[in-house]
Formats: sequence, C-alpha cells, structure tokens
Amino acid sequence: MSFPVTRLRRLRKTPAIRAMVRETDVTADDLIMPYFVCPGEGVRNPIRSMPGNFQLSVDQLVQEVKELYQTGIEKILLFGIPEEKDQDGTVACSHHAIVPQAIKALKAVLPEVLIVADVCNCEYTEHGHCGTIVDGDVDNDVTLETLSRQSVVLAEAGADIIAPSDMMDGRVGAIRKALDDSGFKNTPIIAYSAKYASAFYGPFRDAAESAPKFGNRFTYQMDPANTDEALREVAEDIKEGADMVMVKPALSYLDVIHRVKSHFNMPVVAYNVSGEFSMVKAAAQNGWIDEQRIIKEILTSIKRAGADVIITYHAKEFVMNSKI
Ligand code: PBG
Repeated sequence: MSFPVTRLRRLRKTPAIRAMVRETDVTADDLIMPYFVCPGEGVRNPIRSMPGNFQLSVDQLVQEVKELYQTGIEKILLFGIPEEKDQDGTVACSHHAIVPQAIKALKAVLPEVLIVADVCNCEYTEHGHCGTIVDGDVDNDVTLETLSRQSVVLAEAGADIIAPSDMMDGRVGAIRKALDDSGFKNTPIIAYSAKYASAFYGPFRDAAESAPKFGNRFTYQMDPANTDEALREVAEDIKEGADMVMVKPALSYLDVIHRVKSHFNMPVVAYNVSGEFSMVKAAAQNGWIDEQRIIKEILTSIKRAGADVIITYHAKEFVMNSKI
C-alpha cells in the first residue's frame, strides 16, 4: 500500500498518538551523572568552561548527590582532583586518595547510589598523561600495574563499577585479574573501549586539571577516522572480561555506537563528553538555541543509535526539566 491509502501523518495527529508510537524514550534509568571531587571542605569551584558544574569537596559532593538522587537519577561517575601529583599516578593507589574518600563518605549516607569509578592516571600524574612515561611515551605494560592497584583501592572503598578510561592494551584483563585476586569477582567493569583522541575533551581537562603537559594522547587514544578499529578494541575488551563497553565521545561517533551495538550482544555505554555539553551551554547562553529541546534531541539520538546508558553532564537538568 502507498499513498493515498497510506498516510504516515495519521500517527502524528495528537500528542497521545505520537507518544503511543514513539520508539525511543530517555529516562532517569538511562543516565549517569559525572562529578569532580577535590580536597578541602565547603569547596564549590565553578568550572568556567562547563557552566553548572563544579569541583566539589567531599561534603559538597554528598549534598549534591542527595539532590540528584531525589530527581530519580541513581548512578554517578566520579573523577578526582588530588592534592598532589607524581610521575606515575601512584597517589591514586592509596586509601587516602580523594576518590576512595569520596566513595566512603557517599556510601555512608547514600548506600543505594550506584558509584562508577573512572580509572585513569591522567588526573594524578604531573605530566598529565594516562600512564608512566618511559623514553618519551606512555609505557603500556608498566601502566597496567598502577591501573590495577587504583582499581582495587576503588573497589575496596565501595565503588560499584570500575571504569578504565586510559586506553592501554590489556588493561581490562589486568584489572579483572587484580579485582578477582582481591575478592571482587562480582564487581563489574565498564571498559572505555572505543575512546577517541578527541578535541571534545577540552573543557574536561580544565575541570579535572588533567591536560597533558607535553605532546598529546595520539599514541593511546583512537584516531577519529577509524571504526573497524573500534570493533577490534571492543572485541579485545570483551575477551578480557568487560561487562559493558563504551564509545566516547558520543555525538560525532553515533555510527560507532550503532556498529558496536549491532556487532556485539553487549550493553553499550555512550559518553556525551564535556565539549559536547559546553557547546550546547554556550549556544544557549547566547540565546541561539532552545536548550531543553536540544538536550532532549541529543540524548534521544544517542539512545536511538544504540546506547543503553548515557553518561552526560546534562543528566540532572534533563530529568528535572522532563518532570515539568
Ligand atoms: C581520563 C578521562 C578523560 C575524560 C574522561 N576520562 C579525559 C581525557 O582522556 O583526556 C573526558 C570526559 C569529558 O570530556 O567529558 N582519561
């Protein structure tokens, strides 16, 4: 059948009809809200390049997550800004490190909030690279050591999920083994599997104070031009024991999300990164776009492409606005 028997506009006639046939819906259950935790008390440093986001001390973070939980969002992702950095990121391998402290404080008052702990060295190294530098480049196998130790410390503090974002080869297997050997065989891993060397991370590096002091991340993060390679990365991570896989960034990589989802029967996470967030904020502050509609359209597109879960700085605002 075709026109005039078929009229696709019939199913667009009223809000109720449109709601009935809507294929994709984004809800609080799909979202993870990221936070940056820093030392001190009563600290709430606005992150200039990410309006509405802050570097929060532990007490402020707890307040913030309480509010978040009341909106219906029960999942967060934590990044740490340490007091001191070192050459290989071992400052993050201690129970006194900033993120383990934050996790313990959160779990004491909000045990039901699911905490995903990002694992990487770039926030903790003086040079800002994601691993230990040997002969001018990040050494893969040496770095696996610190990543494994950091993961165990985070699990011991109470992290519900470990999420390595460093892009070293073999890190999922190394972390899985370290967790299993330390009694955390039931702690899942979300692998940042297809993580691209992207300019969209710019504002995050301000927020986490993690920009590399020399060079770039091109020898470990992926070339934005490649998608076959993304499937190889995902396949490796699954073989090594990843429970969920991630594509990052999201918007310029919707094709990658779609390919990963169709190739593997795995839960797929997409990271709607800082640059994607800040571009929306900047345009909105100029009055150039309808911000709330744009956010909804963006999150819907990421889910429609195949993501089961979306990490986004828009999470709280989106859920609050969808209730109005
Ligand atoms: C750490 C890490 C980064 C992001 C998440 N984890 C930065 C980077 O790789 O440079 C970026 C997140 C964002 O831009 O929102 N490796």
